[in-house]
Amino acid sequence: MNKIVVNGGKKLYGEVEIGGSKNAALPMLFAGILTGEACVFSHLPRVSDVLLTLEILRSLGARIRFAPGGDVLVDYSLVRPALPSLVHTGAIRGSVYLLGAMLGRFGRAKLGGAGGCDFGSRPIDQHLMGFEGLGAIEYAENGALCLTAPRGLCGANISLKMPSVGATANLLMAATAASGKTVIRNAAAEPHVVALCEFLTACGARIEGQGSDTLTVFGGRPLHGCRCTVIPDMIEAGTYLCAAMAAGGRVTVRNVVPSHLGAALDVFRDMGASLTVGKTYITIKAPARYRAVDVTTGPYPAFPTDLHPQFAALFTIGHRTTGTGRVFERVWQERFRYTEELSRLGAHVKIKGECATFSPCPLHPATLRSPDLRGGVALVIAALSVVGRTEITNAATVGRGYEHFESKLRGLGADVRVFG
Ligand code: EPU
Repeated sequence: MNKIVVNGGKKLYGEVEIGGSKNAALPMLFAGILTGEACVFSHLPRVSDVLLTLEILRSLGARIRFAPGGDVLVDYSLVRPALPSLVHTGAIRGSVYLLGAMLGRFGRAKLGGAGGCDFGSRPIDQHLMGFEGLGAIEYAENGALCLTAPRGLCGANISLKMPSVGATANLLMAATAASGKTVIRNAAAEPHVVALCEFLTACGARIEGQGSDTLTVFGGRPLHGCRCTVIPDMIEAGTYLCAAMAAGGRVTVRNVVPSHLGAALDVFRDMGASLTVGKTYITIKAPARYRAVDVTTGPYPAFPTDLHPQFAALFTIGHRTTGTGRVFERVWQERFRYTEELSRLGAHVKIKGECATFSPCPLHPATLRSPDLRGGVALVIAALSVVGRTEITNAATVGRGYEHFESKLRGLGADVRVFG
């Protein structure tokens, strides 16, 4: 997917089926390494980050089969603790999960580098502090980060400096293989972290406290393969709800867990949207005009940073919004790159430290460049409200996290084309 062309100004109506969560699928796919057996994944989203993950696993010896019904079987029995190609691991953030999974299974791990969206520095000091607590030693070899646990991994008390999703997931993986009890304090509680706990439990691990800020892992139990279903992608769902707000109309997202989106639904209500929330669906009816509000991102259950750019886009649309909206970004210091592109559409944005202020004004079509996954999709959302043709290049960034993007939007009546 190279370029997205949006002919905006059309209201959206209909239903969209939400896929499996990218950020749940990635740690689960890597965690499967711990089992040394085969795992079957249902609802695995076919987004490029997941396909690259499968490529990395294949390069390490995993055998992968796409079953006719859509399930994906990954057989981890022949996985080796080799150094995967930097071309692959350097493209996605999730490759950092190789560290916990390989360390757990083989007592050693190597990683040339991990990529992901560019939000400035993305340290992994908390992952490494935790691995060290479990008995691992870190060293560098030809530019690769290496970990080894010469005396095996041993349960420990670990307190994270911040509730990092990645560090929590990585340490959960290593801790299931460590002998004895590990307690992870200040752990992340995102639905995708809970999903990883459930996956590991289905493989035979014993974990207590999932969904809270303290996780206790009773490690050293033998793990086995399992069958699992990836949870629905709350960020994809929130994105289509934002698209409906931007374009106007009435849209239902199906196959969702509405409670995962609690903080975002509160913001939609504050903006004046009318919501119908069922057990596995959410319908949004966009008002003719909505209010811009203040949003503060934070670890779950706070408002998710991965929906920040999509809501920010809503606050810029002059003919739809009233008032000034502000986003306080408290997770990623440099998540405002997309605002430069929004300005090309005519948006008024002021950034001061962690706060971006958006004043509504008339937007016009333009040619834009997607800076990253959620920033790119925010540009599409803004473009859906603008009469005329907006082109968004570097659209592969969007393909990292949205499957069937063109057909899902077109199914709602949007005039969107994806090229490449
Ligand atoms: N942090 C540290 N040290 C660490 C780890 C994190 O300082 O060792 C800091 C980060 O710099 C950041 C904060 O802690 O300021 C949170 O980082 P976290 O580790 O939670 O983020 P991540 O695991 O790298 C995942 C998602 C991101 C999402 C964040 C926050 C995946 C593959 N990525 O990243 O998703 O923004 O959690 O919820 O799960 C996206 O999907 O668009 C995306 C960027």
